[in-house]
Amino acid sequence: AWFDRHGRHDLPWQHPRTPYRVWVSEIMLQQTQVSTVIPYFERFMACFPDITSLANASQDEVLHLWTGLGYYARARNLHGAAQRIRDEHQGRFPQDFDAVLALPGIGRSTAGAILAQALNQRYAILDGYVKRVLTRYHAISGWPGSKAVENHLWELAEAATPQQRVADYTQAIMDLGATVCSRTPNCAVCPLNASCQARAVGDPRAYPTSKPRKTLPVRETTMLLLQNPQGFLLLEQRPAAGIWGGLWSLPECPPDRDPAEFCQSTLGLKIQKAETGTHLRHTFSHFHLDITTLLAQVIPGDRAVMEGRPQVWYNCHQPDVRGLPAPVKTLLDDLNNQPE
Ligand code: ADE
Repeated sequence: AWFDRHGRHDLPWQHPRTPYRVWVSEIMLQQTQVSTVIPYFERFMACFPDITSLANASQDEVLHLWTGLGYYARARNLHGAAQRIRDEHQGRFPQDFDAVLALPGIGRSTAGAILAQALNQRYAILDGYVKRVLTRYHAISGWPGSKAVENHLWELAEAATPQQRVADYTQAIMDLGATVCSRTPNCAVCPLNASCQARAVGDPRAYPTSKPRKTLPVRETTMLLLQNPQGFLLLEQRPAAGIWGGLWSLPECPPDRDPAEFCQSTLGLKIQKAETGTHLRHTFSHFHLDITTLLAQVIPGDRAVMEGRPQVWYNCHQPDVRGLPAPVKTLLDDLNNQPE
C-alpha cells in the first residue's frame, strides 16, 4: 500500500520492465545514485536496445557510454555477459536463477533483483538500501559486510519477501531505503515505524553499524600531457586487468624518473618544452590518487621504442568513441578550454 502511493513508478527501467533493461539498470545502480544513472541508462538503451546489439558492440563503444560512471569492471562484465547470453542462451536473458548468477558481474542480490523485478520470481535482494532497512527494523548490530551479519540479513531478507507482487515489493523496499529510511531517516512518515526496533530502542541512525575504517592511503602520479606538433595528445590504453582496465589514459611518469628521460626511453619521444600543470585528487574506494600534470610539446625521438600498450594521438577538439577515466576527461576538457 505504501508503494502504491509513495513508491517510484516512473523510473525508465520500469517501462518496459524487461530482464535486459532491469539488468543494465541494476548494474549501473551499484554504487551510483538513481539521478546520476538515468541519463546514462537512456543513452545506453538508445545505443544498445537489446542484448545482441550490446554483445556485438566493441568494448570501446561500451566503455565510452560508461565514461564518468566509474567502476568500469561493471561495464566490461556487462559486455562479456551479453556475449555469453548471445552465444549460450540464444540472445535471450536466462530465466533460471543459477544461470543468471553464473553471468559475470552478477551476484546473489543482483540476480534476485533482476528475476524479482522483471519476472516476478520470488527471490530476495540484499543491497545497501535493504541492509539499512533491515538492520534498523530488527536492530541488528555489527558491520553488514561481515559474513556473520550478512548471513543473518539474508535470512531476514528471505523472510520479508512476499509471495505476491514480488516485483513491486522489491522496488518498494529499495524506495523505502532511498527516500524514507535514508541516512537521516524520516521516521514520522515510515509505514514500518510502529514496529521498528531501532526506533524503539534508541536511534535508527546508529544502524547499520559502519565499517571499521582505516584512512585511505595516498598514491602520487605524474600524468603526461604530450602534445605533438599537430596539437594531438598521446593516450595509452590501460591493461585489461586493474584500475581503469581497457580505458584510454595519459602516460604516467613514475615518481623516481625524470620525465624527459622517461619520454625518450619508454615512449620514444623528445620533449621540447614542458611546464607543470594542475593538481587533481581522484578518490577510489581504497586509495586517493594525487595527480600532477606535465604539459609538454614533443617530437619523435632519435630511436623507435617497442612498447606494449596501444597508443593513439588524440584530437581533443574531435573526441571519438573511447572510454576515458573521469579525471583524464577532466584534464582534457580543461586543456581544451584554455586560451592558446
Ligand atoms: N538501486 C538498485 N536498483 C534500484 C531500483 N530499481 N530503484 C532504485 N534504486 C535502485
